[in-house]
Amino acid sequence: MDWGMSHRLNQLMPGGRCFFMAMDHGYFQGPTTGLEKPGETVKPLLPYVDALFCTRGVLRSSIDPSSSKPIILRVSGGTSMVGKDLANEVITTSIEEIIRLNASAVGISVFIGSDYEKETLKNLSELVNTCEDYGIPVMAITAVGKELEKREARYLALCCRIVAELGARAVKTYWCEKDFEKVVRGCPVPVVVAGGPKCETELEVFEFVYDGIQKGAVGINLGRNVWQNPNAEAMAKALRAIVHDNATPKQAHDIFNGSKKTHHGYSKVDVSV
Ligand code: R5P
Repeated sequence: MDWGMSHRLNQLMPGGRCFFMAMDHGYFQGPTTGLEKPGETVKPLLPYVDALFCTRGVLRSSIDPSSSKPIILRVSGGTSMVGKDLANEVITTSIEEIIRLNASAVGISVFIGSDYEKETLKNLSELVNTCEDYGIPVMAITAVGKELEKREARYLALCCRIVAELGARAVKTYWCEKDFEKVVRGCPVPVVVAGGPKCETELEVFEFVYDGIQKGAVGINLGRNVWQNPNAEAMAKALRAIVHDNATPKQAHDIFNGSKKTHHGYSKVDVSV
């Protein structure tokens, strides 16, 4: 592997693990709850995460360029929640723009099993062809659009393997309760666990993240379960402990409880992390 590619991957996954903060939702959902002002939402979370996942629009408008946090640029889109089909994506961002913005990686969705399977896999292949020339890793996202019930091991394993075969350097996919280890085992590149709609409890989030890591995922790319929580900083701190320090769900929950806001303000948050 060339030095540039290796350097970017090491920056994104220090020690082989990663906590990516997903904040790209506006590209098809508009101003998602909690992300109306993305810069303000993410600022207190920056010390806990390894990279930000966002579009060029949010990067330019909302992220301080003096920040050294690596950026994974979302470069697919062109659809919306109110449009005909979320799967009908195109590549939205040129290689010149990716380089100009100093992205450490790019992310692109594929919709396997949809009417646009071939188009989105072609988008991925072409993006890999271009980005590999410049040592920029491509993270493929196995998206399901509104069909959340597709998130089971056989389907996810199929998707992860296909995108790895097409050249993705990492895959972001959903965690599933049963046989997630088979998804990871069948994928020759690092697997990152995606989030999903906000869970009922914090413990539920800690449990699925912990399980995913135990079964071989290298980390997480989470959004709503962090910044839609009223104690987003405490969530970020607890999740970081699972990803980077192998904390159990119980230990993470204790960290969360010890760090969450009281009526006096924040208690026990260690901002030096
Ligand atoms: C999918 O690719 C989305 O745009 C998000 O990046 C992804 O769903 C992770 O965010 P969340 O944890 O809110 O689902």
